[in-house]
Amino acid sequence: MNWDLADKKIILIGGPGGVGKTTLAAALGVSLGLRGYRTLVLTVDPARRLAQALGFKDFENSVKKVTAPEYPELQLTASMLDSEHYFDKVIERFARSPEQKKKILENRLYRTMVESLGGSHEYAAMERLLEFVSSDEYDKIIVDTPPTQNALDLLQAPQRLANFMDTSVLKWFQKKGGLVLFQRGTQMAMKALQSILGSEFLDNLAAVLGDLEGMQAGFRSRHLAVMELFRNPSSAFVLVTQASEARFLESVEFHKTLQNEKIALERLVLNRLEPDFQSQSPTGLEKEALTWFSALQKHFEELRLVQQKWAEAFQSAIKVPMIRIERKATLMSDIHALKELGDELIN
Ligand SMILES: Nc1ncnc2c1ncn2[C@@H]1O[C@H](COP(=O)(O)OP(=O)(O)OP(=O)(O)O)[C@@H](O)[C@H]1O
Ligand SMILES: [Mg+2]
Repeated sequence: MNWDLADKKIILIGGPGGVGKTTLAAALGVSLGLRGYRTLVLTVDPARRLAQALGFKDFENSVKKVTAPEYPELQLTASMLDSEHYFDKVIERFARSPEQKKKILENRLYRTMVESLGGSHEYAAMERLLEFVSSDEYDKIIVDTPPTQNALDLLQAPQRLANFMDTSVLKWFQKKGGLVLFQRGTQMAMKALQSILGSEFLDNLAAVLGDLEGMQAGFRSRHLAVMELFRNPSSAFVLVTQASEARFLESVEFHKTLQNEKIALERLVLNRLEPDFQSQSPTGLEKEALTWFSALQKHFEELRLVQQKWAEAFQSAIKVPMIRIERKATLMSDIHALKELGDELIN
């Protein structure tokens, strides 16, 4: 099926963990970058081999032009997001003063807290996207995302951070000058907490909460910007998943959430489908090896049939064009392999 991406600027690749999002994002990037589009791939924590294929030596927050001697016409830039450290930058941006920034960043506790919320990696990915969207340097921006079971995790990460900072529990902790002035019940709770966590922890907590105060507005406006961007017809949301029972329900939920948020799903990609191994007949195998081969063939054929069944279920539950990608025997370790895979997505 031909996938016309001419009028799309942002292609967002989402889906559960380990299904091939990062690989397909890079593949699509190579393919579009070879079709005359100035393309950017924002990739999150790529596997080592893939990072090397894109020209990254170390894990770093950098933007790199991807080059391949066999494809001099390639117009591809890759940016690797180290979501761990990226969040620091976010704090830097929204902090109201250099002092506030310094205090938050120097407090180890803030990260633990933000991470315990979940969504900080998703938030970092969204933040990065907004940074690039405003620039006119690229025709196509492909956004790889961290693994998310639920589309809401991705879409609502900024909102969740803002809400978290608004909650009454926080207000309860927040008290200028420390954690005094609590009512009796509260005092007892604080005592209990103190004995478990230590008073240093609580002082730190109070400091962090005080510092984070006032940053909600920044997170809220980011949330609105992200939602607006995804609802725009020039953005395409692609859900990558696998044809299995385990992935079925969560993918259906993912789709429903997008519908509720009025975000159109552009394509459903079923990745790593078993190829038809049955029709291959090896030559020159000894009898014992042949027995092994047949047993393997039988195993893979069963797997393939189960996947076909789930693929049909996916198609009837999620009514958007579906792209089927087979499991490849080659490693995705060079630009050529990525191009082939990307062309398969588009053609
Ligand atoms: N069609 C394919 N055929 C064979 N191997 C594949 C295919 N797609 C992805 N892979 C392999 O599957 C592994 C996981 O892929 P990848 O890292 O892209 O998944 P991901 O969805 O980004 O994972 P995470 O959710 O952890 O970020 C990698 O080793 C990759 O090379
Ligand atoms: Mg990934």
